[in-house]
Amino acid sequence: PLVYLNGTLTPLSEARIPVLDRGFIFGDGIYEVVPMYARKLFRAKQHLARLFRSLKAVSITNPHSEEEWMALIGKVAHAHPSDDQLIYLQVTRGVAKRGHAFPKEAVTPTVFIMTNPMTLPSAQAVENGVACVTMEDKRWLHCDIKSISLLGNVLAAQYAVEHDAAEVIQFRDGWLSEGSSSNVWVVKDGKMMAPPRDELILEGIRYGFIEELCAARGIPFESRRISREEVMQADEVMLSSASKEVLAVASIDGRPVGDGRPGPVFRALHAAYVEARK
Ligand code: PDD
Repeated sequence: PLVYLNGTLTPLSEARIPVLDRGFIFGDGIYEVVPMYARKLFRAKQHLARLFRSLKAVSITNPHSEEEWMALIGKVAHAHPSDDQLIYLQVTRGVAKRGHAFPKEAVTPTVFIMTNPMTLPSAQAVENGVACVTMEDKRWLHCDIKSISLLGNVLAAQYAVEHDAAEVIQFRDGWLSEGSSSNVWVVKDGKMMAPPRDELILEGIRYGFIEELCAARGIPFESRRISREEVMQADEVMLSSASKEVLAVASIDGRPVGDGRPGPVFRALHAAYVEARK
């Protein structure tokens, strides 16, 4: 497969960045993950808008217009044989002598795009739901920025692996935040809920999308703070992300969610999701 790096398409094995790239030295960069189904990008405009927001939040110059980004993504995707892909975009502040604050001289952002075949959750995971474990959210207070500084998320994902779970469900001071790389949803008495769109979570592109699916299906939705007790006593809990789509949580810390089977709200939303991405 070909990747895009700073103006050229090149085989992945030949793509090189200088070791002084601030992405490598400081994790000083931003990323996006955009799904493509049947060779059509899914919600690309929203993903690019979030990329632009993240870049702005950390004062990295956006190196391309929306049209240019679309064209570059198109080139990388076109060179890959899979019809369903997960496209990764990364922009770092660029290459400069090591020093924490922004370089004084002008630097050119490093732009990298790669793609991989989309790997969706297994039919079994969709059918039965997945196990999750809870943990305290120990990340920084700007989780709304899609930063490549992901050590907190990496450690959280590893915690899930070590506890035979598909994902963590994180809480900050007793309030639900999100997973290591997904948003978390809770259903009680037929009402769908998710934590507020603030600095403590990354607002997934699926956040707005699932909200739209709820509206279309007449499922009441509320964005509000959700306590640990509410999560543990929920009728349904689900995850969402570009790669998980929407996925039911069957158990949390070994205890079943509801009756331990994916519930009616999940099934309705999953069906609507699959229909919408056709
Ligand atoms: N992760 N929260 C976090 C911390 C995430 O990393 C992600 C996505 C989400 C869901 O966002 P979206 O619906 O736009 O995928 C929420 C991507 C997939 C990743 O890091 O690979």
